[in-house]
Amino acid sequence: MQYIMKGGNPLVGEVHISGAKNAALGILAAAVMTDESVTIDNLPDVNDINVMLDALTEIGVVVDRIDAHTVKINGGNIHTVHVDNEYIRRMRAGYYLIGALLGKYSHAEVALPGGCDIGSRPIDQHLKGFRALSATTRVEYGMVIADARHLRGGHVFMDMVSVGATINVMLAAVLADGNTIIENAAKEPHVVDVANMLNSMGARVRGAGTDVIRIRGVSHLHGTEYSIIPDQIEAGTFMFAAAVTRGDVTVKNVIPKHMEAISSKLIEMGCEIVEMDDTIRVVGRPRLESCNVKTLPYPGFPTDMQPQMGVALVLAHGTGVITESIFENRFKYVGELAKMGAQIKVEGNVAVVYGTDRLTGADLVAPDLRAGAALVLAGLAAEGITTIDDIHYILRGYEAFDEKLRGLGAVIETVENAREARKFRLQVV
Ligand code: UD1
Repeated sequence: MQYIMKGGNPLVGEVHISGAKNAALGILAAAVMTDESVTIDNLPDVNDINVMLDALTEIGVVVDRIDAHTVKINGGNIHTVHVDNEYIRRMRAGYYLIGALLGKYSHAEVALPGGCDIGSRPIDQHLKGFRALSATTRVEYGMVIADARHLRGGHVFMDMVSVGATINVMLAAVLADGNTIIENAAKEPHVVDVANMLNSMGARVRGAGTDVIRIRGVSHLHGTEYSIIPDQIEAGTFMFAAAVTRGDVTVKNVIPKHMEAISSKLIEMGCEIVEMDDTIRVVGRPRLESCNVKTLPYPGFPTDMQPQMGVALVLAHGTGVITESIFENRFKYVGELAKMGAQIKVEGNVAVVYGTDRLTGADLVAPDLRAGAALVLAGLAAEGITTIDDIHYILRGYEAFDEKLRGLGAVIETVENAREARKFRLQVV
């Protein structure tokens, strides 16, 4: 399966943003921490979510998919705390089941997380946090095993800002005995969303969204109905799609406050940004201006938007410098962009991007989720036809990506084989 597209059309129109994948993954884990039913709305219909739901079903959770974006979950009959299958091994957020099951049952055995290959991605901070809650942790035969005779609140100082570790320790701590303090916590919108969801189940989490989270343990959680926040990264990707194709796109169902780091960079590059209650309109300009950018934890510029920014800088006037400060190996898309005529020099965690006024279509391979989406933007901005292989990465995190882009006037199709690709080429010449 690949995407094939003909670039050159400015994207124009409105696009509806789905629920936040990374919030949803934490929220699905939280939902099994009560024996009562939990209804979750605004769930994105993406592969990572389906893998998580399958893993929940395998351990005995009743998953009732009411529609594509609503699920009812009941964790009252979980029969094992051993979570392992080939799909969960390939995703990142399976690790949230360690925190959730440790909190609820004082024991969890979950396959070591995989996820996009963007660096070594250790989980030492998660384990350190569980140990601060009086659990023991070990890794054996590819499984993370966490166990506590008596899970007790504790004081955790994170060595680095980690979204995953913050959410995971928060999950376990809500059902621990006594108080927990997480210092140097991540402040991402999805950390806040998971905290709000837990509080709606009866948890007592305070301070999410600041760097100190305080949790008072409760004895049990109850059912709830909860709607997930919009996806900041999907929204940002469409905003950059408008910028690189010199289009005019209104992204709907967003929280403009969550988009500030992205909006301010687009303004610096010359785009017009119009914010309304839950929409942002991005009006591109004939030629973007270069800028420098450094990825940082929220509220800084998100690492998950770094490849999309790379594509924008390739098409900008002047030279821009990207400093990737979160992950070690997040410039793998650079070699793909070079096939389109981009000039980027990478040294360590810094990329120097020399702007050009023109990219040309090429046959590309998506190296990971966000880089894959960025290559789609490059293909839509380039002259001629671009193909992108390995789009299964993109499907992990973007709902109906090609369909939403077509709604904005993009000429893009998903094709299954060479015959379908030939047909596309014949239609668009
Ligand atoms: C999550 C997101 C991912 C996003 C990232 C940063 C999910 C499923 N994934 O990933 O899309 O790019 O946040 O916003 O939500 N680290 C350690 N030890 C740990 C944990 C993290 O050294 O125990 C390091 C990581 O290697 C990385 C940095 O801390 O350098 C931040 O990682 P973290 O915020 O934990 O990212 P993930 O939770 O893996």
